[in-house]
Amino acid sequence: MCGIVGYTGTRPVQNILVEGLSRLEYRGYDSAGVAIEQDGALQVIHRKGKVGSLAHTLGHFDFSGTCGIGHTRWATHGRPSEANAHPHVSCDGRIAVVHNGIIENFAELREELEAAGHAFSSETDTEVIPHLIEEACREGADLFQAVREAAERLIGAYAIAAVSAEEPGVLVAARKDSPLVVGLADDGSYVASDIIAVLDATREVVVLSDGDVAKLSPDAREFYNARGERFQPEVAHVDWDVDVAEKGGYPDFMLKEIHEQPRVIRDTLAGRLVNGALAIDELDLSVEELNLIDRVYVIACGTSYHAGLIAKNLVEGWARIPCECEVASEFRYRNPIITPTTLVVAVSQSGETADTLAAIRDARVKGARVFGITNVVGSPVARESDGVIYTKANKEIAVASTKSFLGQVVSLTLLALLLAQVKGKLKMNQVRLLFRELADTADQVERILLECGPAVDAAAQACKDAASALFVGRGMGAAIACEGALKLKEISYLHAEAYPAGEMKHGPIALIDEGFPVIAVATKSPVYDKVVSNLQEAKARGAMVVAVATEGDEEIGRHADHVVFIPKVRDAFSAVTASVPLQLFARAIALERGCDVDQPRNLAKSVTVE
Ligand code: F6R
Repeated sequence: MCGIVGYTGTRPVQNILVEGLSRLEYRGYDSAGVAIEQDGALQVIHRKGKVGSLAHTLGHFDFSGTCGIGHTRWATHGRPSEANAHPHVSCDGRIAVVHNGIIENFAELREELEAAGHAFSSETDTEVIPHLIEEACREGADLFQAVREAAERLIGAYAIAAVSAEEPGVLVAARKDSPLVVGLADDGSYVASDIIAVLDATREVVVLSDGDVAKLSPDAREFYNARGERFQPEVAHVDWDVDVAEKGGYPDFMLKEIHEQPRVIRDTLAGRLVNGALAIDELDLSVEELNLIDRVYVIACGTSYHAGLIAKNLVEGWARIPCECEVASEFRYRNPIITPTTLVVAVSQSGETADTLAAIRDARVKGARVFGITNVVGSPVARESDGVIYTKANKEIAVASTKSFLGQVVSLTLLALLLAQVKGKLKMNQVRLLFRELADTADQVERILLECGPAVDAAAQACKDAASALFVGRGMGAAIACEGALKLKEISYLHAEAYPAGEMKHGPIALIDEGFPVIAVATKSPVYDKVVSNLQEAKARGAMVVAVATEGDEEIGRHADHVVFIPKVRDAFSAVTASVPLQLFARAIALERGCDVDQPRNLAKSVTVE
């Protein structure tokens, strides 16, 4: 949520900032701005709307300055507007700051600063920072010292980049609980919320840790830790390709990412079967410790929570361990039963979701072992967990999660298999068979992507003008339906609800009248017949039924207006295959309705606020 980029060096900064912000736009896109040092002053330009609008305005200027900062915003405090867009500046306009995160004590700080004569021009929490820095500079601090002093006053999460017209070429960056990296290049130093923004310029990066402050200038870089001690940072070499930030011939990132899913499945499984047994060494728990686990909580938000619902079925079904799946924002505020033999599995694509992080901290304080499943190496979820599985989805740019979801489902399936293996609930040959079938889903998803387009498009045409839709399924299908409904509502703004099909008669069936879309996960499973009965109930009331069904099912056509057939897989793996046509269905409807599938309104890729 919110993207920061900064540069100091020998190249003109304007285009560096615009290009970096375009890459970070997935983090927020309601307004954008830059501050560029130019002829002894700061040129600050803001625009409401996407980075393209800022780029258009900057096109009239062509600044030659070589030090600056930029920001693309996802509003938290203060509506999206030009006044609330970053960078924010001090009273004299000579200090500019961009910030990602939330300053929890901003109201007190603002009151204090206003009493000291500072004039504010936005509704944001961020604006206290340039004024705090200005205050420290008035006492004689330089920019670096002033940022440190300001940071000490802040409660909450922040990644900050600051420049001052008084110190040309100096850029100071600091972070706590919000990501920030420094890119090291021959022409200078880059700062960004995400490595992706600097990959064109360099592959050598320093990932700042909580409390770190970096002082950068065209010819020097200094790094200090939370205690103020200078340190030599570890430089990471990034070997993934900048192509991940390009559409690679696809019309949008969402479609590109949907098509990457077979690769995600293969990469997530690679190297997991060692000498015929499952191995997840990163778990960092001995077989004895794993064997003692008697309760599992999966905690997550949004799409990741839906991956957790799938896991609940598998952990209980295979390992026979009680497993609850709970949204992190609820888990953190109740008093769940946690003992040292409880395993908490925190699932987060971004690895920085505030609610999930808070739940992890809470669970650890209560004595649980916490295991993270995330897509982002070195993210807070990875760092704060006792062990981690990386989902190997690579960077996901489209705001609606697709390939990350599949990576999570596959990782959680592995974890469920491992628990079953350790507990002796599945024999080794069963584990191997299941693993092989799971690996086969990569080919099956490939086939779905090749073959199901026409059926999905026909179903989307039929549903695109509806005001609302009901997604139903039973067992695994109920969890898959939840994800299908979320995908549809977030990118097409078509209201959708998911219900276990058996619950329809207890209320939602009242919604159904002539032509009302009911989207059913009706793949072959132990509850297939039950789902079909529920579809008959819906059909009898005029519903327009779209079914995702198993190839060879000759009966389903009698109960559905549109059928999308997918290859037969074991029910345990149906989420991996059946989710894919639902992703395509949501995208097709969104496009029909003229929506931006990569950047839906009001959303952001990582949610670092409570
Ligand atoms: C939906 C989506 C969100 C996220 C949720 C949690 O497509 O992407 O619902 O799943 O905000 O985010 P992470 O997984 O980063 O913790």
